[in-house]
Amino acid sequence: MTNKFTGVLLVFSIVTFSCSQPETIDELDVKVNDLLAQMTLEEKIGQMNLYNGFWDITGPAPQEGDAAKKYADLEQGYVGAMLNIHGTENVRKIQEIAVNQSRLGIPLLFGYDIIHGYKTLSPIPLAEAASWDMEAIEMSSRVAATEASAAGINWTFAPMVDISRDARWGRVMEGGGEDPYLGAKIASARVRGFQGDDLSAANTIAACAKHFAGYGFAEAGRDYNTVDIGTITLYNEVLPPFRSAVNQGVRTIMNSFNILNGIPATGDTFLQRDILKDKWSFNGFVVSDWGSTGEMITHGYARDLAHAAALAANAGSDMDMESYAYVNHLKAQVDSGMVDIAVIDDAVKRILRVKFELGLFDDPFRYCDPEREKELLYHEEHQQAVRDMARKSMVLLKNEGNLLPLSRGRQKVAVIGALADDNNSPLGSWRISSDDSTAVTLLEGMEPYGAEITYAKGADLITGPATFLNNVPINQTDKSEFRQAVRLARRSDVVVMVLGEHGFQSGEGRSRTRLDLPGVQQELLEAVFEANQNIVLVLMNGRPLALPWAAEHVPAILETWHLGTQSGHAIAQVLFGEYNPSGKLPMSFPRSIGQVPISYNRYNTGRPDALDIVFWSTYTDEAIDPLFPFGHGLSYTNFEYSNLSVQLVDKHRVEIKVTVSNEGRVAGEEVTQLYIRDVVASVARPIKELKGFRKFHLEPGQSETIVFTLTENELGFFDAKGNFKVEPGKFQVMVGTSSAEGLSGEFTIGPVGDQP
Ligand code: BGC
Repeated sequence: MTNKFTGVLLVFSIVTFSCSQPETIDELDVKVNDLLAQMTLEEKIGQMNLYNGFWDITGPAPQEGDAAKKYADLEQGYVGAMLNIHGTENVRKIQEIAVNQSRLGIPLLFGYDIIHGYKTLSPIPLAEAASWDMEAIEMSSRVAATEASAAGINWTFAPMVDISRDARWGRVMEGGGEDPYLGAKIASARVRGFQGDDLSAANTIAACAKHFAGYGFAEAGRDYNTVDIGTITLYNEVLPPFRSAVNQGVRTIMNSFNILNGIPATGDTFLQRDILKDKWSFNGFVVSDWGSTGEMITHGYARDLAHAAALAANAGSDMDMESYAYVNHLKAQVDSGMVDIAVIDDAVKRILRVKFELGLFDDPFRYCDPEREKELLYHEEHQQAVRDMARKSMVLLKNEGNLLPLSRGRQKVAVIGALADDNNSPLGSWRISSDDSTAVTLLEGMEPYGAEITYAKGADLITGPATFLNNVPINQTDKSEFRQAVRLARRSDVVVMVLGEHGFQSGEGRSRTRLDLPGVQQELLEAVFEANQNIVLVLMNGRPLALPWAAEHVPAILETWHLGTQSGHAIAQVLFGEYNPSGKLPMSFPRSIGQVPISYNRYNTGRPDALDIVFWSTYTDEAIDPLFPFGHGLSYTNFEYSNLSVQLVDKHRVEIKVTVSNEGRVAGEEVTQLYIRDVVASVARPIKELKGFRKFHLEPGQSETIVFTLTENELGFFDAKGNFKVEPGKFQVMVGTSSAEGLSGEFTIGPVGDQP
């Protein structure tokens, strides 16, 4: 298991060319204030306006309509940023209008959803979260920033750091899963990856942590739906990844579509001013989500767009994405006294500061070098990096009788399922700039391994093509090709069934009410199982699925998510044992849809233990634990845990040690996880909370002592008012290989000021 990043880093650092020493905060302030002093109110409001891309920019300027207005506004200096314009040539054309034709020549930001890559795609973010490898995740965002910046982009609308426990929600594919501790680590790794150490370097871009806040708790998993969570959940579960991104210096935050306590997030002063800007001292800017300023009218919170503009600006939403609310109405709101000029000045300063930090005033075209674009898009080093990330992202859910790995060249392998031959779905959702059908298929990936492979599709997933924007996939019902698949299965030693979701069955607006295999895939699986039970189920999906039948009957299950450009190569390496899987689930896989939302860090309730009478917190028709728990993931080797020691070393510092040994025959990587429970507190705490993890490599027969130190940061929690507290008393500890399995201990911490 070599780390390819050594080579990759070299290339990335060669192309990092920083222009000058980053300026101090004071120097920047002076520049920002000087510029602000020259601006008219209209120009200031212009900086707060973010437009979507508009016309065929290689043609003449449009004469009328929406595009003409945008063009005219650009010339006037009434646009601060554009989204969805990419490619050096296109970006340069638009930047030239702003810089050469507007009065002050203030350069534009160019924002784009670089969610898991620009051209070269890494795995979807939920998959990457399964790697629990922060260096690799940082590198993945670095690759994305390198390609995006080479194509003119200087601002990504990522990372999405919404915690979610509801697999029905299509956007779980975009985030880090269900846990705030893991989510917070991922948030900062991604911000580091996108922004680097120097925002003015040509290969770094401004990041945007989104969606602030609570969006992942949409009721019933329906996108854009109402969020109704208590403040304990808000402070302890939803906010930590955002806080972590802010601590890491994220330059922008996007607010969200949902209401929280009846207030649309875009108009929420408590979230954007009290918490983000005041309590956390965030000095970047807040951008609205697409049209979310205007949607405050639809929510029933704003009377009209003018009212919405005032509400959003006053609440701290600094830039309006495509609602036309600020550009058309904010000036009147200032003139009438509804919005103080100080609100405008503060927002504009924040936006200008980011532009200065990006070095755009030194060179507005610094991201517009066509040579660099040509050299870096789909760069071979990026292919290696995303392949490595893809290998790290897979989770071996089950491997009865060590059916995996397959033996090279000695088995007759039937590969069944449309996804095995699909070069599009594995790219996953949210890949608006990448080229369709550029993934390595699993069949292609398996070719070099010399196995005797036959292939049958068995069934399609959906009828007809689906695209990111236009249509929702419709499940296939045709079973006419089952027979051929069954025939192949019967003649083979082992069957690799590749089933799951179409690449666009998850993502924005792609909520589902079922978590099964779409179409007739479950029936196909059962039909093939009748012919040959030696099945390796390779899952490709953008969310946790509920597959109780497969979990019970199929001997081996490998979760591969949507792994991006190098998908097929990476999966084949795992199937044939060239890479030992080490991923761990970042979200619980439920037994049935009825368990959702589900997460390992639930509360105990007053009635947790199922007895023979009915009045307990259980289901009458299903267990309450998940099918595959958070943190679960097997390896081709066995890791044994022993010698747990728990020691109070300081007032509020606990050292926890455990020995992990590789008892199997191959080398592998393990992710050791540490969970605690605060047994009695002034606010009831969850039965388990992840508070540490380590990923490490062990050769066969090798052992390692893993040491964790818990400090106040891990021992404390937020109360309902958002105050962080560490309370004396007993804590339980569990250290192990998943959230459901490990060695247990306990410790007691004394009141503040006491010695241990
Ligand atoms: C999404 C955002 C995205 C924006 C711009 C919205 O619909 O919610 O996450 O950044 O569109 O594409």
